[in-house]
Amino acid sequence: MIKSAFSKQTLRMVSTTHFGSKTVPVDQKAKLVGHVFSSVASKYDLMNDIMSLGIHRLWKDHFINKLDPGMRPGANEPLNFLDVAGGSGDIAFGILDYAKTKFGDTQSTMDVVDINPDMLKEGERRALDQGRYFEDPRVRFMVQDGEQLEAIESNSKDVYTVSFGIRNFTNIQRGLETAHRVLKPGGIFYCLEFSKIENPLMDMAYQQWAKALPVFGSIIANDYDSYQYLVESIERFPDQETFKSMIQDAGFQAAGYESLSSGICAIHWGIKA
Ligand SMILES: C[S@@+](CC[C@H](N)C(=O)[O-])C[C@H]1O[C@@H](n2cnc3c(N)ncnc32)[C@H](O)[C@@H]1O
Repeated sequence: MIKSAFSKQTLRMVSTTHFGSKTVPVDQKAKLVGHVFSSVASKYDLMNDIMSLGIHRLWKDHFINKLDPGMRPGANEPLNFLDVAGGSGDIAFGILDYAKTKFGDTQSTMDVVDINPDMLKEGERRALDQGRYFEDPRVRFMVQDGEQLEAIESNSKDVYTVSFGIRNFTNIQRGLETAHRVLKPGGIFYCLEFSKIENPLMDMAYQQWAKALPVFGSIIANDYDSYQYLVESIERFPDQETFKSMIQDAGFQAAGYESLSSGICAIHWGIKA
């Protein structure tokens, strides 16, 4: 259960941020978000299927296909991928599978980082269950805060992906600046995230669905509060143009986006010059 442990008076004295619709001290948000994902980690697919009516699988496939990742035949060096907030492994494993299938790339490396050890364990468990990428020397799972990425060297990565993760950061702009720091010149920042629905009818339908989501979360996963947080975090995330500007402010060039399913989510990208 997520309960606010802070009185209004305490909140006035410290720097605050939002946690869903609640206002909380900045230094507490990561812990509260951690609680949400620890709570949903073991039912992660169920959560995504409930939240997106199963469409998240198609969005993720499109995300990877559009990126077209992998070391091209004849290239001198393997690529260094970094998947941030990647606990489930969905994107990291999908990228490595794609690179192998399309380009025969079995050399590129992948760091999967997440702030939450329970989500990372879920990713590792899946790697073990699926018989791929578990204890693979090319793949590292690391607990890291995406805002800092202390263990990731500057100018070291070719591709930075983040899927349905960045809206949970306490300071999204700092996360974007860190993405810029760790990428090599010419590297790509590539993000899949919920966004602003562009079609008014679809938006009305979504608003109704969003009201029902915590109730479904409560019935199916016995977890009303986590689902309530997830809905509110989606509502607070910047729209497509605003997020594009934030990517540019972090120093990226050629920033752009593609809205998916009328803007329920969007792919954003930028290149480090
Ligand atoms: C909805 S899950 C997405 C997981 C995966 N990327 C996917 O698309 O299936 C959100 C993830 O963001 C992680 N997360 C939240 N805040 C983070 C932060 N500051 N740094 C790194 N990961 C974070 C959570 O622990 C959780 O695993």
